[in-house]
Amino acid sequence: MNDLFDKIEKNPGPLGMHADESYGYFMFPKLEGEIGNRMQFRGKEKLVWSLNNYLGLANHPEVRKTDAEAAARYGLASPMGARMMSGNSDFHEQLEKELSAFERKPDTILLNYGYQGMVSAIDALVDRHDVIIYDSESHACIIDGVRLHMGKRFVYPHNDINNLETQLERAVKLVQGTNGSILVITEGVFGMSGDQGRLADIVALKKKYPFRLFVDDAHGFGTMGTTGAGTSEAQGVMDGVDIYFGTFAKSMALIGAFISSEERVIKHLRYNSRSQIFAKSLPMPCVIGALKRLELLRSKPELKANLWRIVHALQNGLREAGFEIGKTNSPVTPVYLNGTIPEATALIHDLRENNDIFCSMVVYPVVPKGVIMLRLIPTAVHTLEDVHYTIETFGKVKTNLKEGKYKVDRIVEV
Ligand SMILES: Cc1ncc(COP(=O)(O)O)c(C=O)c1O
Repeated sequence: MNDLFDKIEKNPGPLGMHADESYGYFMFPKLEGEIGNRMQFRGKEKLVWSLNNYLGLANHPEVRKTDAEAAARYGLASPMGARMMSGNSDFHEQLEKELSAFERKPDTILLNYGYQGMVSAIDALVDRHDVIIYDSESHACIIDGVRLHMGKRFVYPHNDINNLETQLERAVKLVQGTNGSILVITEGVFGMSGDQGRLADIVALKKKYPFRLFVDDAHGFGTMGTTGAGTSEAQGVMDGVDIYFGTFAKSMALIGAFISSEERVIKHLRYNSRSQIFAKSLPMPCVIGALKRLELLRSKPELKANLWRIVHALQNGLREAGFEIGKTNSPVTPVYLNGTIPEATALIHDLRENNDIFCSMVVYPVVPKGVIMLRLIPTAVHTLEDVHYTIETFGKVKTNLKEGKYKVDRIVEV
């Protein structure tokens, strides 16, 4: 017998094991001040590349005004209860209508959180007779949704369409026996590597195999496609994506999410998504704030144009300077270097303390052992000067890393 609390104390997990030396710096850092390209970290201004504030809406004056007025008028409590019981409102329904029009789908359901909503939607859509096929690099919310699934689940290596086809062949044989259905799930833009899911290739497989396609476009909504409708728009396959998921947590700089699809699918989700039925609905200021953000997304294409000006400058500049940035074809910009975890911490420390650049680092187990990934999120409110300074500074730290200047045997103490 083992006391549960003693056991978890001894097994803190892959992130928790670094808690003591990392808290407040490498993990749970506090960025303060107005959200933008420059923020305060430990009392000093830093150039920040860590926020998914893609369109710069977090601190847009119209957004701030609407958020403040909605909070003053409705408070944060309203409406009380789950939507099904007592927490519905005209604003919630209006937002769903406007999102449907934006996504060119018949209907939409709002979700309180993207993560929970996604888990619950997967749970609500399939039963034990069905097969889920999903990309191996899917976000944790997809993985957790798949974990709830009582039927078979097949995974295909990231963006490997030949392998997906093999999985579809297996799945078709299986569902013929169970009289079930097939759901394929992928991301629109993969949040770590920045490459797009091969939606057009997946949609093309529908001619050969009977399946429905569910796309988590957390990073693509607002950033990809001519109107910002997402990765499916960018790849010209909006109709081929059967169920489209977007979150408000990134380009909308808010909280909440949504799923758009056919009316019969959304109706099913309204009455079967446990994370929505059994949870309080989105507060009114979030809904009114989302309506405002959506209006800006539609009426101010210059926001997306600014974002992409910075994306292109940053990604082209990094490539020209000899950096490895992988296969990104979205704003997400990974920079791959080689080194140990302690070296990564020394490098990040140098970037933050001596060069005033704040970016996120990703290490094993998210990337292979020996790889350090610096993850940059360009936004509409960055400047070309920010880009040039960052590329120049990255050049310096890359040389330092090669010359062994960050060699330490333990995580840097801060
Ligand atoms: C691909 C993907 N899906 C879902 C989510 C979850 O969204 P939310 O922050 O709204 O819970 C995220 C956010 O981190 C994400 O990157």
